[in-house]
Amino acid sequence: MIEIIVLVAWLIILTIIVVVTYKLHHLIKVYKAENNEEKAESLQTSQNWFYAFLVIASLCGVGILYLFLKDTIWESHLFEWLNLTVRLLHITFGIAWIGASFYFVFLENALNRTEGVRDELAGNLWAVHGGGFYYLEKYKVAPKQIPKDLHWFKYEAYFTWLTGFCLLAIVYYFNAKSYLIDPEVLDISIATAISISLISLVIGWIIYDQICKRLNKNKVVFTIAITILIFIFAWFYAQVFSDRAAYIHFGAFLGTLMAANVFFVIIPGQKRMVNAAKKGLMPNPEDGKAAFIRSYTNNYFTLPVLFVMISNHFPSTFGSSYQWIVLIAITLGTAGIKHYLNIREKGQLSVWVMPISVLLLLSVAFVTAPTKPNYEDCKETVSLAEISTIINNRCTSCHSSNPTDTVWKVAPNGVKYDTAEQIFNLRDKIFQRVVMSKNMPFNNNQTGMTQEERDMINCWINQGAPK
Ligand code: HEC
Repeated sequence: MIEIIVLVAWLIILTIIVVVTYKLHHLIKVYKAENNEEKAESLQTSQNWFYAFLVIASLCGVGILYLFLKDTIWESHLFEWLNLTVRLLHITFGIAWIGASFYFVFLENALNRTEGVRDELAGNLWAVHGGGFYYLEKYKVAPKQIPKDLHWFKYEAYFTWLTGFCLLAIVYYFNAKSYLIDPEVLDISIATAISISLISLVIGWIIYDQICKRLNKNKVVFTIAITILIFIFAWFYAQVFSDRAAYIHFGAFLGTLMAANVFFVIIPGQKRMVNAAKKGLMPNPEDGKAAFIRSYTNNYFTLPVLFVMISNHFPSTFGSSYQWIVLIAITLGTAGIKHYLNIREKGQLSVWVMPISVLLLLSVAFVTAPTKPNYEDCKETVSLAEISTIINNRCTSCHSSNPTDTVWKVAPNGVKYDTAEQIFNLRDKIFQRVVMSKNMPFNNNQTGMTQEERDMINCWINQGAPK
């Protein structure tokens, strides 16, 4: 009975949402067609409020659902779906944002600034895409009249940050004991860990903002200051959080700077520029300069952030003994590649930026490679039967068709070690997680695997994994 009531309530709510959305959209179109700017604009504001209301209501709905399902068998299922939904949204907004950013950087770099350019223009560009020809013009300052339909690019950035922050909370705050905190790094409470996470993002932004405002006269000094700042954060996170959480926080830190740049500096500046142009005044050149310096750092942050976001899949990076140095090296290498792309788009040639960046990345691969075990430490030959015993004792409570673990009711990532055959086939990944990054058994070595057992697995792999 209750299911039917919930279902009917849902249908009614959905119908109301659909009708209101449609009505608003339709009316705005009608007013625009009638050139009734004022009404169209006020309705557009209502539309924005309506969408904001929907987002907040959905968040509250999820919160209430969580309270209902807490400590039941559906709690982890709820988190799985929250994770999936928010991650998909985050990736989608992120692609839209970084895609637009790459596109505009390309436009700026590739603009034809010399041939047949009208006086008021900075340049123009021809392009062909999707079966059509496009012609774009960039103004030196602003057009004489600001057009009615002016497209802004801001929601991509805001929503990327918001969904990213939700994802951080879903994965790292709600499972702080398993994902955020590693007592071997720093033994802190959940509340302390979450506070450090939040406060560090705010402080990071404040310092970065001050550097942008105070040190922007000299490009070299500015670049060095920003580089030192982000290196300090890479190091700091490695001193307080688990390896993975440290990497993700570094990404969250850079992402926060990027989104805050858009929210606090670039968009307000653009609004002032548009308002000035509407009144026929010259826009304040300081706004343009401030936006430029923020876009400059955002541009170099893109590739490092992308790496950090996928770094969770690469335990050899975050799991290495010098994880924060690896992070810095990869940040420099990927930023270097972005620098190469920037100058290439301007039609200039650089012979050294790309090779040095690639060399840096290759040296990271080299430094993080596993070292051969000392053969004297290895017992004559380790057999698959011995390895199976270890894995059965330490891993199958989670990685099995029938896990006995209290939290993991389904084999995590579908990885099962029920038979010797499965263990043999999955030996590479076992080696990665047990010997290299040592982040299995999950939950800070929940099943208490010993170093001798890790060494035995290392020896077995090195002996060619005899069956
Ligand atoms: C307490 C439960 C638990 C135990 C015990 C455990 N794991 Fe895991 N394992 C997980 C979870 C959760 C994940 C998914 C999250 C992750 O990738 O870290 C995972 C992921 C993995 C992965 C990555 C799979 C992939 O597709 O990338 C490997 C490999 C792995 N575990 C190996 C092991 C080995 C080997 C052991 C025993 C030494 C072990 N695990 C013990 C919970 C556990």
